[in-house]
Amino acid sequence: MNQLLLTDTMTDKGNFTVPKLTESNMGFGVLGVFLGLLLEVSTHGPHTVPRTSWKHQDVDLLEFSEPGIFNYSTLLLSEERDALYVGAREAIFELSKKNVTIKNHKVQWTVTESHMNMCTLKGKSKERDCLNYIRVLQVVDDERLYVCGTHAFQPQCDYLNLGDFSLEGQTEDGRGKCSFDPSQSFTTVMVDGELYSGTAYNFLGSEPIISRYSPSHSLLRTEYSTSWLNEPSFVFADVIREGTNRVVGEDDKIYYFFTEVSVEFEFFGKLLIPRVARVCKGDLGGQRTLQKKWTSFLKAKLVCSMPELNFVFNVVHDIFILKGKTGQDTVFYGVFTSQWGNVGLSAVCAYNMTTVEEVFSKGKYMQKATVEQSHTKWVRYNGISPSPRPGACINNMMRQQNISSSLYLPDKTLQFVKDHPLLEDPILPIGNRPLLITKDVNYTQLVVEKIQALDGNIYDVIFTGTDKGVLHKSVVFQDEVHIVEEIQLLKNSEPIKNLLLSSKTRSVYAGSDSGVVQTPTAFCRKYLTCYDCVLARDPYCAWDPNTAACVNILDTPRHGLRKLTQSLNGDADKCPEVPQKDYQSVLVKPGSSAELPCMVNSNLAHVMWTFNGSVLSEASRFLFMGENGLLVYSVAPEDQGSYECWSFEWAPAAGKNFSRLLAGYTVKLDLPPRPPTQSTRPTHPATPLSSQENSNVHAAEGNVETRRGSLTSTSFTATVLPTPPQTHSSLTPPPSSTVKVHPRRSFPLNSAAPYPASREPEAEYLQHNNSVALLFLFLLFFLLFLAAMVYNCYMQYLPAPCLRLRAALLGTHKCSHQPEYRACEAGLMETSATDKMNMTEQPTQNGSQASKNLRALRDTGYETEPECGNGQLPSHSSGSASPSQEKPFDVDCDSQSIQFADADEPCC
Ligand SMILES: *[C@@H]1O[C@H](CO)[C@@H](O)[C@H](O)[C@H]1NC(C)=O
Ligand SMILES: *[C@@H]1O[C@H](CO)[C@@H](O)[C@H](O)[C@H]1NC(C)=O
Ligand SMILES: *[C@@H]1O[C@H](CO)[C@@H](O)[C@H](O)[C@H]1NC(C)=O
Ligand SMILES: *[C@@H]1O[C@H](CO)[C@@H](O)[C@H](O)[C@H]1NC(C)=O
Ligand SMILES: *[C@@H]1O[C@H](CO)[C@@H](O)[C@H](O)[C@H]1NC(C)=O
Ligand SMILES: *[C@@H]1O[C@H](CO)[C@@H](O)[C@H](O)[C@H]1NC(C)=O
Repeated sequence: MNQLLLTDTMTDKGNFTVPKLTESNMGFGVLGVFLGLLLEVSTHGPHTVPRTSWKHQDVDLLEFSEPGIFNYSTLLLSEERDALYVGAREAIFELSKKNVTIKNHKVQWTVTESHMNMCTLKGKSKERDCLNYIRVLQVVDDERLYVCGTHAFQPQCDYLNLGDFSLEGQTEDGRGKCSFDPSQSFTTVMVDGELYSGTAYNFLGSEPIISRYSPSHSLLRTEYSTSWLNEPSFVFADVIREGTNRVVGEDDKIYYFFTEVSVEFEFFGKLLIPRVARVCKGDLGGQRTLQKKWTSFLKAKLVCSMPELNFVFNVVHDIFILKGKTGQDTVFYGVFTSQWGNVGLSAVCAYNMTTVEEVFSKGKYMQKATVEQSHTKWVRYNGISPSPRPGACINNMMRQQNISSSLYLPDKTLQFVKDHPLLEDPILPIGNRPLLITKDVNYTQLVVEKIQALDGNIYDVIFTGTDKGVLHKSVVFQDEVHIVEEIQLLKNSEPIKNLLLSSKTRSVYAGSDSGVVQTPTAFCRKYLTCYDCVLARDPYCAWDPNTAACVNILDTPRHGLRKLTQSLNGDADKCPEVPQKDYQSVLVKPGSSAELPCMVNSNLAHVMWTFNGSVLSEASRFLFMGENGLLVYSVAPEDQGSYECWSFEWAPAAGKNFSRLLAGYTVKLDLPPRPPTQSTRPTHPATPLSSQENSNVHAAEGNVETRRGSLTSTSFTATVLPTPPQTHSSLTPPPSSTVKVHPRRSFPLNSAAPYPASREPEAEYLQHNNSVALLFLFLLFFLLFLAAMVYNCYMQYLPAPCLRLRAALLGTHKCSHQPEYRACEAGLMETSATDKMNMTEQPTQNGSQASKNLRALRDTGYETEPECGNGQLPSHSSGSASPSQEKPFDVDCDSQSIQFADADEPCC
């Protein structure tokens, strides 16, 4: 309930307006709580930054798309046939699983003219809606796939012969199997030849249905009732086989995951709730009650929240089920965001199958109760539920009672489950909190793989796709999550619509509107040093000292594993000693600048430069420390010496701070024979910290553009500093270098929404501090502004609209005191004079009756407050003050709704 209170406060945020705030003093409280929450989440909340960022072109990705074909959103992997089937708009492809750029087959499935016409007649767009979006691809048997498409808002299904990759042309009605609307959510799963789906059953998309299509049985479906399904958004469905639980004769179960509008919480507006629902595979419906309806449909609330911050992630976007040997070893993972998406947080929660089963088999039911006749409320059902337990699958115990199928379930049980499909007990995540919370991303999809590292432990590796085409790879290490890397999978910033993983090909496949992308699960070879390889903490990667390379342990034969170095806590001390690097000497012409590259591949590393052994700070020298290295502006004799670039990386799991020398340079002036009399260094007392000042300095030298360009773009490799006439540009001569120049570091993957705080811990700290300071400043100014306004209103320095605003701020008090009336009118005369208002119905001094009537007419809002005449008059508005000196402000303009505040009319 606390959590709800909180979410409650957040809706106010979206349409936050002054009148809303002023309606009550609560407004401030609400605002405060909300700001407090944001602050807390952004400063103290967990924030995980990917250690490494790979751009699209940094890594070897395999891509597939065909011109003119879009919406590659349905993917199906076939391990047997080594194929990836892709359902796109009006086409189905068979790609090679090993390399998706290889297209083995393609079949087109377009909409006929007549269907198209019918669709456009119904008001749908010809280019967008009235096409055939392939949404269902399921394996029927070795030779066939079951395929459904939206087919111009008349869903159809067909069989796809895998032999010659052709549609058999036996089209079936796709209603309830596939959505009508291509943009509507749906889910399907084929279990033993029967198609389970969750989608909309009608053209309008308003009738949600969870159903089963079976060649041998008749259609089984959900009741059409909001207590069963209330505007659901389906995300996933899959079967959980009972395995060892067969001893009690339990049935296999199909789990559905969706977000729906809550019925059980009172909330103004729609409160979304993530759910898991379950049906039994053997369900046949009831005999009389629940005929051809599920007798086993039960649903429960999924919880994914940060309890200490009262923050709820209430929208589930995708689920991945990591199946164990038994049903009980199974874990399912979900990606969640909040309904209030602008908070910018995503979370991954994991659920233990045992917990889920517990809730379904023992949980309390909820019941609809009618309070005050019209109003219904959902409360816990505390009575005794009928036996056998409503919604339970048929097991051996029931069979002993001669209930061999759902057809023989007693009506009492069926009626009960029909009325009580919702369980009260929530399904709590493992550890009662999210595994992973990430700021400034919207996760859309996830897949998980278990991997046995060299320490013998099995780790969960979580791949999450975002709405900007980025893939995050995280590893769960001792209940902490480390984001190993992020990869810009899609060229464009578009959502990842589907994500699949194949352990066999060690690849992740992503489907999007523009194409299909295949990426390896690890990029070990990209780590060039042992430090990088170990600090990456990637369970797939280990350092091979023999070949001096970072290798994938899955590529390494078993006997070779012992020699490898891996430490999932990032303890890079295990790395062999690296020989001291030689310094690279750099000759610089006096007055020109020197660029000393230093590549850091880690977003978690903190870079430090030393000069002649002492730490350089930007404030002290004419330097610029960029992401790619150090830039020394107009080198002077005192800048000669040795420069070292150090990287410090804190490995929290190892509890160690690892430092290493990345690059070393000896900078010398290339002095011409004549003595260097002329110092080229500008005499401005400018500190290079501020790029603004820098640009001023160089503006004086007449070349702003290049300077700014080199500062703002993070790479300044080719930028030559403009300097006074006699100097030449000189950059680090790249050839004949003895220092190994690292490859270019990756830039933030998404310049629009990067991890701004990820570069250096210090910068991060500063940023947080800034945001805190800014918020406090904002609040302070707001309060000052309010105070000033109130004061000015009080003193009548401001015109009438202000009076009304102020009045609204303090609540409403109608006054009926005659003296005040006059005072008000007097005040009005004054303000109207200053405002030069054109008053059509200006009350006269003696027209108090008319003004009273007028007031009655305008008394729109806030009328429930007591009249101030009945002894509850606030002291400040008491009529004792002389009207000429102290202008009353609690006049009847108070009662005017704020929407009239800018009307050019008098208040009385
Ligand atoms: C299909 O792809 C197009 C082009 O990227 C996109 O604009 C559209 O929203 C997509 N439609 C659906 C239903 O995904
Ligand atoms: C799930 O919970 C059961 C019972 O509490 C426990 O034995 C099992 O280890 C848990 N599984 C996971 C993956 O946490
Ligand atoms: C179950 O049915 C069998 C055969 O019809 C009957 O002999 C038996 O008594 C029944 N058992 C119960 C518990 O109803
Ligand atoms: C996440 O999605 C919401 C709603 O779709 C959007 O307002 C927000 O900007 C997105 N945030 C990021 C970081 O992409
Ligand atoms: C730095 O060291 C070099 C060589 O060791 C020396 O020539 C130079 O004067 C030193 N610079 C400063 C500022 O100490
Ligand atoms: C690691 O060392 C660097 C450099 O001395 C320091 O700035 C940083 O604060 C240290 N980090 C931690 C967590 O101790």
